Amino acid sequence: MKVSVTTLSLQDLDVDLLIIPVGRSLARARAAQIGGPVGEALNAALIDFEGDLEETLLCYPASGRARRVAVVGLGYPENIDREALRRAAAAGAHMAMKTKATTVALCLPDSQLDSEATGQSLVEGYMLSSYEYDRYKTRPNEERTITERLVLHAGRDEKSARRGAERGRIEAEATITARDLVNLSPHDKTPTLLGKIVERFGRKYGYEVSVWDKSDIEKEKMGGLLGVNRGSLEPPVMIEMTWKPSKAGNSRPVVLVGKGIVFDTGGLSLKPTKNSMDHMKADMAGAAAVIGAMEAIARLDVPLYVIGLIPATDNRPGQDAYVPGDVLRMHSGMTVEVLNTDAEGRLILADALSYAKLYRPEIVFDLATLTGAQVVALGSQVAAVMTREDSGASERLEPVMEAAERSGDLLHPMPMHAHYAEALKSDVADIKNIGNREAGSITAAKFLENFVDYPWVHIDMAGPSFLKSELPYRPAGGTGFGVRLLTEFIRDYAHPKKR
Ligand code: BES
Ligand code: MN
Ligand code: ZN
Repeated sequence: MKVSVTTLSLQDLDVDLLIIPVGRSLARARAAQIGGPVGEALNAALIDFEGDLEETLLCYPASGRARRVAVVGLGYPENIDREALRRAAAAGAHMAMKTKATTVALCLPDSQLDSEATGQSLVEGYMLSSYEYDRYKTRPNEERTITERLVLHAGRDEKSARRGAERGRIEAEATITARDLVNLSPHDKTPTLLGKIVERFGRKYGYEVSVWDKSDIEKEKMGGLLGVNRGSLEPPVMIEMTWKPSKAGNSRPVVLVGKGIVFDTGGLSLKPTKNSMDHMKADMAGAAAVIGAMEAIARLDVPLYVIGLIPATDNRPGQDAYVPGDVLRMHSGMTVEVLNTDAEGRLILADALSYAKLYRPEIVFDLATLTGAQVVALGSQVAAVMTREDSGASERLEPVMEAAERSGDLLHPMPMHAHYAEALKSDVADIKNIGNREAGSITAAKFLENFVDYPWVHIDMAGPSFLKSELPYRPAGGTGFGVRLLTEFIRDYAHPKKR
């Protein structure tokens, strides 16, 4: 999809569909302001239009260059935020598909947001809702029309609208990269293949990639990753991505760790298929989020030193699979008693987090589809965020929560009191890899806390990473959750005083 910005008069836009988002009670005034054939058509149609969020109405100007005009509601003016803009743009995109429009113009509405945020949000909503995964379809979907050209109609603030549109496009495309990876069939993303894919992305977007093979992982004594990998026919990899621009403001990196279980059968603690194993190709969604974020950061040329780290393997019950009762010696030297081979994510993440100490990082994020308990607690639209409960905790979380709000990748914090760690006491090793049934996402985070000694933010995104049915601008399947969250956080972190 080509995205551009124009300041031509609305009457002069030669497009199949012109989308005009308006807030509740503002439509009449907007129609009058537009005037000409477009304004007249709009005005006539408004007898059937309230302006509720995502409400759409199609009208046909008697003359003029735009073939069709869709008015899209934004809801009450005081509630128009980035999310409302994304949703309205998504409703507009659906109208474009319905009318088979290939050239579309989208007007920037007035609101309390600046043109940059408005342009970004509209482009994100439009592009993300137009996504369809068709890699494995032998015949193209003929019902479907793809927008070839999207033109944003900016008012006075053309320059910032252009900046926003460009950022929205890059963040949407990086999110789509992550969606594609999650939706990929497991045999097309074995750890080795995933490493090759990321090497290709690194060359394309200009970040460095190094893929460690099994012998490298053995040299690092990563007992967690190697333990999980034992039941698999495919060797594990560790993928390291580096973005280090010469103008980076930090000498110690921001590190992003993503869980890369390319398929989770549960191992010998085998999962039942229905509603459990059937979507476990998505168990590398944390890795996909990190890969997408590295793409966005590089393409936006963010002046920050950032490292992405992905431990990747599948979790299978092969001949030599690790078994309940096995004790693993981890990269950190700590020993872990495995009591459930399905609690594998924390084992591979622990090794990556422990390795990350060597970078002397400023801050480390890990993103993981870690626990079913997260889905039970928060559902499929909000991920859990956890951090060590020290004196810096709220200060650390604040910009993360702000990035969540801006991006629409929503987060809610979970408590991390010391007593939760008691559930991980083992009779034979330093700790065990599962707690009891209570507070499963928190005990998983408490497990990981043993392997970090730096400022750390853990995001359990089991629910929001993959959808069985669509949400606004998120079709069913991989969502790309986390890409825009991380990108917004990092952009802000690189320019702390700009906002
Ligand atoms: N990958 C799963 C978690 C998951 C569940 C992700 C649902 C997405 C949707 C993880 O490896 C897992 O199996 N966790 C276990 C841990 C338990 C054995 C302590 C779980 O949550 O049941
Ligand atoms: Mn599992
Ligand atoms: Zn898993």
